[in-house]
Amino acid sequence: MHYDHLGAAYDQAPHVEVAEGFFRAVRGLARARAPGLVLDLGCGTGLLTELLAGTGCRVRGVDISRAMLRVARRRCRRFGARVRFAAGDLLDLRTAPPAVAAFACADVVNHFTAEKDVAAFFRSAWRSLEPGGVFVFDALNRWCFETYWKGQTYYFEGKSGDLVMECDWDPARRLGTAGMVVYARGPRGYAKRRAVLRERLHDDATLRRLLLRAGFSRADAAPWSPWTDQREEASVDRTLWTAVR
Ligand SMILES: C[S@@+](CC[C@H](N)C(=O)[O-])C[C@H]1O[C@@H](n2cnc3c(N)ncnc32)[C@H](O)[C@@H]1O
Repeated sequence: MHYDHLGAAYDQAPHVEVAEGFFRAVRGLARARAPGLVLDLGCGTGLLTELLAGTGCRVRGVDISRAMLRVARRRCRRFGARVRFAAGDLLDLRTAPPAVAAFACADVVNHFTAEKDVAAFFRSAWRSLEPGGVFVFDALNRWCFETYWKGQTYYFEGKSGDLVMECDWDPARRLGTAGMVVYARGPRGYAKRRAVLRERLHDDATLRRLLLRAGFSRADAAPWSPWTDQREEASVDRTLWTAVR
């Protein structure tokens, strides 16, 4: 799994900014439901988990990458038993007890490149919520792939390592590709690793249909962006979805 190659090197400024932007969008909801149990689906290194825990909620983070979870556990240690992490596959999630809210931040849904996997992810989210529970996630839009992925190369330098991302966009397959070179900082210098990340564009009609089919009673979409300087751009780059069980 490509995120095992990232681990702490994931924590680059833009990734932190996405989690912070997402938190601004959901913090009211989380605070209103504290100290209830909320889920951070695809929690990665726990950037959002930590912010959610600050609202007084109990938080459970789930991710398939053990390397990402190691960083998340370190980050959230100070919250003790109020924050828990588990290795798990979002395509077949069985959590108990049911949560008051579930969040999937930073285009987690685009990581599922097959429609059947998006459907399975939504069924997992529905199962993990109590009646009235809310599921919020962001999805990349076409403008994002055409503008931020097509032929773009990014260089990030961070405390735990550096990251080069060579991105591209295939409109016929609705597929974005990011070839990543990770320079993970360790006690004996840098370890170089390569990974390829693929993300698919899912249109709003498909996501709405799959959410309702999974059992959600409502699914609302709003144009959205996590970036504080997005006003300078021609469009926002994402849709923020709110679905109610
Ligand atoms: C872009 S990162 C987002 C991390 C975190 N939500 C954040 O905002 O920083 C996507 C995360 O989804 C996780 N992921 C991808 N597919 C998954 C699956 N099938 N089950 C669980 N986690 C998965 C990856 O391991 C990765 O940590």
